[in-house]
Amino acid sequence: MGNVLITGAASGIARAAAKRLSARMTVYAADIDAAGLAETVDGIVAAGGDAKAVEVDVSNRESVESMVASVDGGIEAAFFAAGIHIRGTAETVSEEDWDRMIGVHVKGTFLCCQATLRRMRAQGTGGAIVTMSSDYAVMAVPGGAAYCAAKAAIHSLTKSIAQEFAPDRIRVNALGPGPIDTPILRSGRTDEEYDAARKRLADNLPIGRLGQPEEVAAVVDFLLGERSSYITGQIVHPNGGQLTW
Ligand SMILES: NC(=O)c1ccc[n+]([C@@H]2O[C@H](COP(=O)([O-])OP(=O)(O)OC[C@H]3O[C@@H](n4cnc5c(N)ncnc54)[C@H](O)[C@@H]3O)[C@@H](O)[C@H]2O)c1
Repeated sequence: MGNVLITGAASGIARAAAKRLSARMTVYAADIDAAGLAETVDGIVAAGGDAKAVEVDVSNRESVESMVASVDGGIEAAFFAAGIHIRGTAETVSEEDWDRMIGVHVKGTFLCCQATLRRMRAQGTGGAIVTMSSDYAVMAVPGGAAYCAAKAAIHSLTKSIAQEFAPDRIRVNALGPGPIDTPILRSGRTDEEYDAARKRLADNLPIGRLGQPEEVAAVVDFLLGERSSYITGQIVHPNGGQLTW
């Protein structure tokens, strides 16, 4: 039973992944939201698993380094999913919001990967990392200028890191989910806008419904485990058929 480090674990997809992975690993659940983290950790411990809460701001180097240092023993696996969504067209998005989006998503993913990879390489026993991109890394979305750019950067970053660390038996893959029913879908929307967005998204999906966090967590479990031992540098899309090529 090794350790898995998960960011964004106070909510949504990463919380579901933390719960699922706690069946076979000790979970270091990290997030900026202390109250949500406590709920995640309490739920895992109540179900008989082992989990620890680590407060982190992934966009801050010292905070990320202290998160990685807080893991006792080895880090065998990591899932970096912390994210935000500030909506705005290319014309309206403010410089401050652009910096925040790129800071949390791109710099945050880079800092988490860098600190973890240094540790994994020093351990010398391989490892697996999953980063969080999106279908929107390769799709155009009006009102999603910063989000789409950030997710494309995470996809690209993941491919380079995968090639750099493959000789160390460290696999690195990105997730590219379609619309998943989590609080991020609500952010920046009124109740009416949120209901309309959920309906529009579901209607446009070949599978006809939004995804559930647990359906993404199952893919994370696969990509962090032995069954995916020959997969690295890929983006895997649990997306209800939204994107096909
Ligand atoms: N829900 C979707 O439709 C969808 C689709 C594709 C990709 N994603 C991505 O999946 C990831 C998880 O999103 P979710 O849907 O579970 O949303 P969510 O809002 O439920 O979870 C996001 C978590 O990230 C945390 N977070 C935000 N900023 C942080 C920071 N600076 N440091 C540490 N933690 C921080 C939040 O506190 C929250 O717990 C995000 O990167 C999101 O962009 C979501």
